[in-house]
Amino acid sequence: MSSSSNLWSLPYPLADHRAHEAELAGALRRVCASGSYILGAEVQAFETEFADFLGVSHVVGVASGTDAIEVTLRALKIGAGSKVVLPSFAPSAVASGVARSGAEPVFADVEPGTFTLCARSLDAVLRSPQGHGVKAAVVVHLYGHPADWENLRQVALEHGIELLEDCAQAHGATWHGRMAGTLGRAAAFSFYPTKNLAALGDAGAVATNDGELAERLRLIRQYGWKQRYVSEYSGVNSRLDELQAAVLRVKLRALKGGLQQRRRLAAEYDASLESSCVATAPVVRRGCEHAYHQYVVRTERRDALMQHLRREQIPVAVHYPVPLHQQRAFGGSLMSLQESERAAASVISLPLHPCLSASAVAAVCDAMERFDHASC
Ligand SMILES: Cc1ncc(COP(=O)(O)O)c(C=O)c1O
Repeated sequence: MSSSSNLWSLPYPLADHRAHEAELAGALRRVCASGSYILGAEVQAFETEFADFLGVSHVVGVASGTDAIEVTLRALKIGAGSKVVLPSFAPSAVASGVARSGAEPVFADVEPGTFTLCARSLDAVLRSPQGHGVKAAVVVHLYGHPADWENLRQVALEHGIELLEDCAQAHGATWHGRMAGTLGRAAAFSFYPTKNLAALGDAGAVATNDGELAERLRLIRQYGWKQRYVSEYSGVNSRLDELQAAVLRVKLRALKGGLQQRRRLAAEYDASLESSCVATAPVVRRGCEHAYHQYVVRTERRDALMQHLRREQIPVAVHYPVPLHQQRAFGGSLMSLQESERAAASVISLPLHPCLSASAVAAVCDAMERFDHASC
């Protein structure tokens, strides 16, 4: 309905910026005046503050979430000649990060409820000929819902592989009281401007409790330098810059409040979807707290529902339309990963972020209900 169009006038990155504008301007001025722009006091302070937020010993800032995956694998000496398993239903950045380490991405299926890596599928891949040479799995907490860590950990232990978390969408999610990002050997974060913790450009980090790994990560992110101009490893240039770190320090202070707001708005959607015969609300597994990076419903009538919502000027999206195992970049496999394929054909992300008004969410619920009444 066009009367609701002004509800969506500010996309999340801009609304999030406006919400912190004065503080951000001060932080940016401070960095500009400091004369230190790379790996300085702001990066150090952000790494400490984010480590405290998560409850881990070390955070190492890098230039993006994709880099966080790559440098973590490199630091674990996983690269050419090795394979890494990841869920097929995930953003392609995950596979790119794996591929850039030199390791070969191998795809497993997801669970139908949470769309996160399925422990049984991981086990099946590891027992198959494809599983030879697998050194690690990247566990994506998709949309902000923690994966089935206990069962994945059992499978990983049995097969002797590393488990890495991909928390690019899961800042503030918890699994049985533990923060996502503290569960595995290391966790990759993205602070891309649409994320729950958002920079004003590209930024990322790796969190770990392993001091030696953190040390290697610090070297690898800057040419492998042990001392200036002397490389211990063949590293990369993936540094978090001072401006982004200063921005992230401001935004980090608002992260808990933002999560509460995301959860409040998600509860509104949940309540409205209870009676729907067209779409189902996202599953939240017992013991988990969802971070609602995305609020994703499932429907067998996706095209019609998307059309209806777009006609009402509601900004909806599909995360993600093509499973990775079917993408040309990653082999365009003829294999079937049923749940990933079903997910890619049936999900819709409804608008959700902490700056969204209750009336915007109510407008989405009304539009969904109208579609329901017309269809059922
Ligand atoms: C689950 C996941 N992993 C990795 C990435 C890559 O992060 P970045 O865009 O910062 O490289 C993203 C971001 O799109 C993501 O959503």
